[in-house]
Amino acid sequence: MSVRTISTQPFTDQKPGTSGLRKKVTVFQKPHYLENFVQSIFDSIAAPGGATLALGGDGRYYNREAIQVILKMAAANGFGKVLVGRGGILSTPAASCVIRKYQTFGGIILSASHNPGGPDGDFGIKFNSSNGGPATETVTEAIFARSKVINEYRILDAPDVALDEIGETMLGAMRVQVIDPVSDYADLMESLFDFAAIRNLLAGGFRIKFDAMHAVTGPYAQEIFVKRLGAPAGDVINAVPLEDFGGGHPDPNLTYAHDLVEALYGDNAPDFGAASDGDGDRNMILGRKFFVTPSDSLAVIAANATLVPGYRKGVAGIARSMPTSAAADRVAQTLNIPCYETPTGWKFFGNLMDAGKVTLCGEESFGTGSDHVREKDGLWAVLFWLNILAVRKQPVETIVRAHWAKYGRNVYSRHDYEGLPAEAAQGVMKHLKDCFAELPGAKFGKYTVRFCDDFSYTDPVDGSVSKGQGIRIIFTDGSRIVFRLSGTGTEGATLRIYLEAYEADTSHHHLDAQMALADLIRIALGLSELELRVMRNKPTVIT
Ligand code: G1P
Ligand code: ZN
Repeated sequence: MSVRTISTQPFTDQKPGTSGLRKKVTVFQKPHYLENFVQSIFDSIAAPGGATLALGGDGRYYNREAIQVILKMAAANGFGKVLVGRGGILSTPAASCVIRKYQTFGGIILSASHNPGGPDGDFGIKFNSSNGGPATETVTEAIFARSKVINEYRILDAPDVALDEIGETMLGAMRVQVIDPVSDYADLMESLFDFAAIRNLLAGGFRIKFDAMHAVTGPYAQEIFVKRLGAPAGDVINAVPLEDFGGGHPDPNLTYAHDLVEALYGDNAPDFGAASDGDGDRNMILGRKFFVTPSDSLAVIAANATLVPGYRKGVAGIARSMPTSAAADRVAQTLNIPCYETPTGWKFFGNLMDAGKVTLCGEESFGTGSDHVREKDGLWAVLFWLNILAVRKQPVETIVRAHWAKYGRNVYSRHDYEGLPAEAAQGVMKHLKDCFAELPGAKFGKYTVRFCDDFSYTDPVDGSVSKGQGIRIIFTDGSRIVFRLSGTGTEGATLRIYLEAYEADTSHHHLDAQMALADLIRIALGLSELELRVMRNKPTVIT
């Protein structure tokens, strides 16, 4: 087996986005495209010779091919060992768990998260550092810079490695260890949550339904809910992972997790429903005929954390992404702990967790997690809720309504306009910035603008500054409208409008969010001139 050095030309579009490099499968299939990016990672991270890498993905189309390429390139680049999930599978939180547990130098995760898969779908790749979290912006910038000048990559000339049996093989001088993708992660969950209490809850007739959406969490959910917690096998639906997710959009929200929504809003509904996304890091929580917004979920988890064994000693602090509602801030205030507001994307939480400043983190985009790993974690959030329910023995809706009664309700919604012409979408953002000077003090019905800005963040740990993270229009009563362009899409531009209104009055808490936010929605559309500028009269997805 010999190392081959292949000449290549740089691609200009290998800039990692909110969560790694995401492109159409057909782009990754272009000669040298994947190899260039992988070599750019290896050239940027300066791993010492003989280092160990973790490797796995969400099982989507092209996962297996990419794993073989990366293994051969890792061998040619001097890695000593790669831990790879059986079949090339590791959910994103499980990959983070493996990196931390076995103290690897880092890991490569193959996923385009909740984006559709298949030959015409999306693929993605990202590097996670030794703390188990997504590489910081400093690292992703270095990878991008390298990708623009790269002129060769190294790959071992070798046959494919067998990945479907647990065990070890040699690839040149590098050891490839195929590991069970589920067990380390399931053990970690069992160490954090009171499995006996959850088992009792389920044995007592409490009914759950978990929708794996034909994505990576199927086997994880079966091991945890069915095998370890005794749920009936039929409680995990769409449990078989498929390379194209069965043609679906593996995003756990009210639009895409339709099988689950039908069950929870139908007759004889289960008590609790949940879903996860393509790579297992997102979650949606439902009660019977009741949707818990991800922002509320973070707040409820924080307020009830000490009911859960792994968090008995309390929460050091909370972090939420800027567009996420301030519901968690109110809990932090009551607990007298700090609440950090970071830019969108999990990579901004890592430093805070490593420094012990925060225990819990969350994003409005169905992401919740803690310092047990350095990724958001779908099944962890589901187990957190089940543990709370096992202790409190109340329905989901009762728990959330009691939370609102105590803290007030941060009514929240996000409107996405997907697949827009990039120029028109950028035009909306520019137009809004052009209005900055005249906005403060402007009145719109009962709302008066307190201030507006383009959010920028200074990392309190390393002092790095991230600018241009979304336009905030904040009103005097704390209500907010945020405009942001997505950094994960692969087709055109996606513009997101985040809407939040604070409601202290319990007698208004039953209102539908879209109705309660109707004024803010009107203001957002008026200010941005969005409908005219992008020629759309309604959002693509409302969450
Ligand atoms: C989206 C979400 C963001 C999340 C990311 C990765 O990014 O908005 O919160 O961290 O996916 O799951 P966006 O497309 O908005 O850049
Ligand atoms: Zn994901």
